[in-house]
Amino acid sequence: MPRRIIIFDTTLRDGEQAPGASLGEQQKITLAHQLAALGVDVIEAGFPISSPEDFRAVTRVAKEVKGPVIAGLARTREEDIQACWEAVKHAERPRIHTFIGTSDIHIERKLRKTREEVLEIAVASVKFARKLCPDVEFSAEDALRTDFDYLCRVVEAAIAAGATTINIPDTVGYTVPWEMEQTIRGLFDRVPNITDAVISVHCHNDLGLAVANSLAAVKAGAGQVECTVNGIGERAGNASLEEIVMTLKTRRDRFDAETNIDTTQIMKTSRMVANFTGFVVQPNKAIVGANAFAHEAGVHQHGVLMDRQTYEIMRPEDVGLTESVLTLGRRSGRHGLRRRLQELGYELTDEQIEEAYRRFLAIADRKKQVYDEDLELIMRDMFGRETGMWRLVGFQVMSGAAPSEEQESAPFSTAVVTLRRQGKIRGPVAEVGNGPVDALYRAIERAVGEKRLSLVDYSLRSVSMGTDAMGEAMVRITDGTTESWGKSASTDILEASAKAFVSAINRLAILRQRAQNEHANGAK
Ligand code: KIV
Ligand code: ZN
Repeated sequence: MPRRIIIFDTTLRDGEQAPGASLGEQQKITLAHQLAALGVDVIEAGFPISSPEDFRAVTRVAKEVKGPVIAGLARTREEDIQACWEAVKHAERPRIHTFIGTSDIHIERKLRKTREEVLEIAVASVKFARKLCPDVEFSAEDALRTDFDYLCRVVEAAIAAGATTINIPDTVGYTVPWEMEQTIRGLFDRVPNITDAVISVHCHNDLGLAVANSLAAVKAGAGQVECTVNGIGERAGNASLEEIVMTLKTRRDRFDAETNIDTTQIMKTSRMVANFTGFVVQPNKAIVGANAFAHEAGVHQHGVLMDRQTYEIMRPEDVGLTESVLTLGRRSGRHGLRRRLQELGYELTDEQIEEAYRRFLAIADRKKQVYDEDLELIMRDMFGRETGMWRLVGFQVMSGAAPSEEQESAPFSTAVVTLRRQGKIRGPVAEVGNGPVDALYRAIERAVGEKRLSLVDYSLRSVSMGTDAMGEAMVRITDGTTESWGKSASTDILEASAKAFVSAINRLAILRQRAQNEHANGAK
């Protein structure tokens, strides 16, 4: 019998911690439903004490998403653990995940404690969590840089205190596969009560080894792997869910292990994560990159035509990659729209379908064919909308060119914008600039009362096919301390540019608020 490996997805928690990845509440709920359809065993939905928004999102996931265990993260503090419980308790199967640093550098420099004190805190926190919840995970943060004898003592004590899962994180992505294997085997050899808990790993990708290290841990006996869709996460990211799952499936001969993942849902989930976070998947990314199944070289194409297995170790359909390019048009109707959105992983209420349909018609009026990419943009816009945020009400741009010798001194574009927030109109506000985008951005900045924003990056790309395709603008901005990004698409590239800038300003407000909350709660 193959061993069943538990897939613990932390896209909504560690993945969302990636700079610039912040997800809106409705995006998190939609993604959590898709993760359940993918078949993950555990969804780590957030860090409830970190902000009221995170608390609300975890609570909603716990109430609304059926199937997987719903976990929340908590430091080893009673107030964190209590807040986590208040959020996850609504789930069919809730889990409290508590953690503390166990490496000397964490203990001495970050926590300013002794090893004995940290051990006591770990035990007390697990006991406290167990009084609230039958399913408690304990993580020894920075485990792979922790003194091994001490790690064994912490793991044994946490299990004795009631932890049902013990996680061994490579927090800084420092280990190598054979060291990870040795560590996990060592724990199985040395910790007497080790079989009373599930042993988990959680690898970061700083050296590009997160997946290899996770698989080495599975080989050594780990029963749970923590990972994120597309490998998103802090710094270089976390171990990628799709790579782990497809390796276990493709090389079952080597691992004799299986997961509960419906691999045909992988592409859908990957696209949703990329769409909502704005983190485009690199074309050569294993499993989900645009080129992962593309054969360009003539000799490969020839081989694949003779027998796919000559150059293909996985079938594209196994990861949910379908060849069909389906388009919708003005006459497709609500029913056709709903069905295509379902196929893309978006399950909408009747009210949401009405809104999606209105937006769909607005695009279909301007373009003959509406592609999946266009529908995904509608979903990102609809689910990304937060209350209390700026919205672009209208704009007008006039642009021209100055005679070349005058260009230095005379900006030749003018923009007028009107924005709205919480029902209040700001504008019209006019500004001049060097080109239409500059004028637009200056006017928007003035309207929202921002003074020192710098544009770090600005790009435009065509989203689908044809000269009437939607243009997607992507901007990165900074106020000198916090960096934010925004994206928007329209058949009018100036509208897309303006909306992307407004979206970046809205996200900046969320990120500033989050930084303030983290400061108030003490750093992780
Ligand atoms: O990387 C890490 O150590 C973590 C823990 C909170 C599990 O994310
Ligand atoms: Zn992590």
